[in-house]
Amino acid sequence: MAETLAIYPGSFDPITNGHLDLIERGSRVFDHLIVAVLTNPDKEPLFTVEERVAMLRAVTAHIRNVSVDTFSGLLVDYAMRKGAQIILRGIRAFTDYEYELQMALMNRKLEPHLETVFLMPAESYTYVSSRLVKEIFLHRGSVKELVPPVVDEQLQHKVFSRKS
Ligand code: PNS
Repeated sequence: MAETLAIYPGSFDPITNGHLDLIERGSRVFDHLIVAVLTNPDKEPLFTVEERVAMLRAVTAHIRNVSVDTFSGLLVDYAMRKGAQIILRGIRAFTDYEYELQMALMNRKLEPHLETVFLMPAESYTYVSSRLVKEIFLHRGSVKELVPPVVDEQLQHKVFSRKS
């Protein structure tokens, strides 16, 4: 049987424990998983693409069948270039569903051969998002239990180096 290659796309600004949980789950379901960072988002990111890729590589180094890449333009075009069959996305709560459904159906319209597969992260991460992590950190709250240690360190570095 052909090997399954899945793409897990996102902004990952920065990667949270919820993302990492999903990557670990995806790595057990698919033969190979590419975590793909979008390089041209509308929103202004806190971390550069290079910083996000470095953090993703550091926290996924122990997972044999996971690699990290970047993409620009349409996700379906990138996925087809890579020869992927699956787009992996996480659904944390009902509020994610509408946005994710719209994206999945639009991607299917653009490329009917690609399937979107949703996985749920552990219940303990259902409220964790990159946006809230940044907000909490910027207001000097602790995010130690929400992100991998390397991300916490990079957040400290980014915020302190900004202020100096
Ligand atoms: O983590 P995010 O920011 O929710 O990820 C959104 C992402 C990167 C998956 C989405 O914005 C995307 O796929 N962008 C690439 C451009 C594209 O293909 N747009 C059409 C989506 S239907």
